Amino acid sequence: MSFLEQQINKNRLPKHIAIIMDGNGRWAEGQGHDRLYGHFHGVESVRNIVEGCAELGIQYLTLYAFSTENWDRPESEVTGLMSLLVDTIHKEVPVLNKNNIRLHVIGNRAMLPPQVDKVLQEALEMTHTNTGLNLIMALSYSSRWELITAVKNIALDVKSGKINPAEINQNTLQQYLTTSNFPDPELMIRTSGEHRISNFLLYQLAYAELYFTNTLWPEFRKNHLYEAIIDYQNRERRFGKTGKQVKESPEKH
Ligand code: IPE
Ligand code: IPE
Ligand code: MG
Repeated sequence: MSFLEQQINKNRLPKHIAIIMDGNGRWAEGQGHDRLYGHFHGVESVRNIVEGCAELGIQYLTLYAFSTENWDRPESEVTGLMSLLVDTIHKEVPVLNKNNIRLHVIGNRAMLPPQVDKVLQEALEMTHTNTGLNLIMALSYSSRWELITAVKNIALDVKSGKINPAEINQNTLQQYLTTSNFPDPELMIRTSGEHRISNFLLYQLAYAELYFTNTLWPEFRKNHLYEAIIDYQNRERRFGKTGKQVKESPEKH
């Protein structure tokens, strides 16, 4: 076990970690390669971090792999990313099964090329009964798309009399989100030195601890993850209360 891993308090792990995997393009350009080279190496980091989370016993890991806005990138990059996705799924599904990891996808799947969606669907079905880490890939995902979809579906259910507008509360909205089966992330990590959320889980991150690092995604490894978790564990999560209240009854938080 590494020195950093030993410093993690296993009784106070976040249940759900969300990561904006950023910096592949800059990493590749810095090495004199094209952007796809960076995405290709980013897969190595995904593998390492998924393994690290599974070893620690993290229950949910959400990875922002492709945003709705990323469809506007040059066609060659989008096509390259889609074929990398298909290759990676083919290679990794046996590894996921071996490690009892269940794959989930959140995002606007209707925008994915049909053959990509088909491979994804197969992977979801093949890992369906796994009970360890839940690996949630945000693909063709954006929070505004998710919220608009939720509002539309709520409106339809109000119209058909299934729900009463007066009774809509946080629980109702939560059930209409793509993350309805997952708890909110307690820790959100973004690599590459950018300090923004870029349309990622805007509602679900309401009380998440945000952790930013300059490390570019292709260089991000387990030890970086451990550093983020240790940083998280040293913070006081107050949820609107005072520090004194939190210290007096920490079990409530
Ligand atoms: C993140 O890396 C991966 C995707 C968005 C698909 P980028 O491709 O955004 O890399 P930079 O930010 O341009 O360096
Ligand atoms: C966010 O990264 C999306 C993913 C990591 C998949 P971007 O690189 O697309 O975000 P911006 O454009 O810097 O905000
Ligand atoms: Mg980027």
